[in-house]
Amino acid sequence: MPAVTSPKQLFEHELQDMYYAEKTLTKVLPKLAEEASDRELSRAFSSHLKQTEGHVANLEKVFRAIGKTPQATTCPGIEGIKKEHDEFVQSSSPSTDMLDAFLTGAAARAEHYEIAAYTGLVATAEALGKREIAELLRQNLEQETAMLEKATRTHDRLVGTQLPG
Ligand SMILES: [Fe+2]
Ligand SMILES: [Fe+2]
Repeated sequence: MPAVTSPKQLFEHELQDMYYAEKTLTKVLPKLAEEASDRELSRAFSSHLKQTEGHVANLEKVFRAIGKTPQATTCPGIEGIKKEHDEFVQSSSPSTDMLDAFLTGAAARAEHYEIAAYTGLVATAEALGKREIAELLRQNLEQETAMLEKATRTHDRLVGTQLPG
C-alpha cells in the first residue's frame, strides 16, 4: 500500500487490517465451536460466527461508503492470537476442561483486539464526520463487547469450579 500520510489513509489501512482479521475469524470460529466441550461455550462461538459474518458485511459496506473496493491486508495481531492457540493445543495436550478454559481466554484476547480496533475506527469516523460509517462500525464494536462479556463469564464459571481448595 502507498505511504500512509493522512488520517483517511490510516483509517483505510485499519479497515483493511480488520477486514483480514474478521475474515480469518470466520474460518477459526467453526473450529473453536467444535473444539469446545462446554455446550454454552460452543454455542457462544457458533453464534459469534454469525455475528462475525455480519462484521465482514458491515466492513464491506464501509469500504463502499468511502468509494473503495474491500481489500484485506495481513493482520499480524490476529495471526498471533491464532498461533498462540495452535501452539497451546499442540504442545500442551490439554484436558477437555482445561482446553475449554483456555478457549475462553483466547476468545477474550481476540475480542480485546477487535474492541481496540473498532474503538479507534469509530472515533476516526466520527472525527471525519462520517456518521453512517461510525454507526456500522459501532454495531460491530457492540457485538465484540458482548462476546467479551460472554467469554469472561464462561471463564469464571469454568475456572471457578476447577480451582483447588
Ligand atoms: Fe468481529
Ligand atoms: Fe469478535
